Amino acid sequence: MLVSIFVAMAGLSACASAPERVARAPATPTVLITGASRGIGLELARQYAELGWGVIATCRNPAGADELQLLAARHSNLVIESLDVTDNREMDALAARYAGVPIDVLINNAGILGGNDRQQFGRYDYAAFDEVMAVNVKGAIRMVEKFVDNVADSEQKKIMNISSAVGSVSMTFGGQNFYRASKAALNMSMRTISKELRRSKEPGHNEIIVGLIHPGVVATDFAKNVPIPMIEPAESAAAVIKVIDSYKDRRQSGDFLSYTGQELPW
Ligand SMILES: NC(=O)c1ccc[n+]([C@@H]2O[C@H](COP(=O)([O-])OP(=O)(O)OC[C@H]3O[C@@H](n4cnc5c(N)ncnc54)[C@H](OP(=O)(O)O)[C@@H]3O)[C@@H](O)[C@H]2O)c1
Repeated sequence: MLVSIFVAMAGLSACASAPERVARAPATPTVLITGASRGIGLELARQYAELGWGVIATCRNPAGADELQLLAARHSNLVIESLDVTDNREMDALAARYAGVPIDVLINNAGILGGNDRQQFGRYDYAAFDEVMAVNVKGAIRMVEKFVDNVADSEQKKIMNISSAVGSVSMTFGGQNFYRASKAALNMSMRTISKELRRSKEPGHNEIIVGLIHPGVVATDFAKNVPIPMIEPAESAAAVIKVIDSYKDRRQSGDFLSYTGQELPW
């Protein structure tokens, strides 16, 4: 199977399967991105595709992801896969489809804020708490469990998480309690996983580098109506890609970095 996967792009027939289309010559890295329909995830998909990587761009509703569809039409090295990160069965099906395909960089990007008005002290909406945790924390952890062997089989072996500076406990100034808690939990969980992988006896697992990256305050649907200066998604994605590149050593595994490359306090 791997032989057919590692065929050079030029030789691929039009009916090659999506896993075959992204997993090309072994020298070409592959990235899997969650939440690639819009915002930072869409820009990461665009920029990795332009860099020539194999891109597995996942999103909840491929048929409605117009910009992503346009990207896929322009870049044969980008495939779209359906994935809601709260849907365990869909995640299992995707993992089965890509079994044996090396994934150099897994990017847990999908995230929700949960609504400012639903997380005001005294009027907390606990359904919002569950929704935010399900996407931002449980979804990301599950992705790691399901795709860890794909990452371990790759050259670069990176699991990168789009976190947020608002998940820093020492820097908090209040507001968005559920969202903040979710990013703090993501940080703790991924740092814990980074330590556990270092001790793992499974092939390649102890070489995996786990990253936590704050992408900046970015002008996406997510941050709309926030009255503070923002950077554009393209600038954020370019900076995030640089930071991902900067994770080169296992000793950096579990580090929490800003899109500027600066280390952030927990
Ligand atoms: N924007 C900022 O200032 C900022 C700052 C710090 C951190 N972040 C983080 O950056 C990441 C991306 O945010 P963004 O600013 O690009 O927000 P966005 O424009 O709202 O995009 C969020 C993405 O997540 C996807 N998503 C939501 N729930 C999902 C689910 N259950 N399964 C799969 N995908 C799901 C959305 O898909 P649909 O199109 O299907 O809804 C969308 O593609 C998030 O983790 C966020 O916490 C953003």
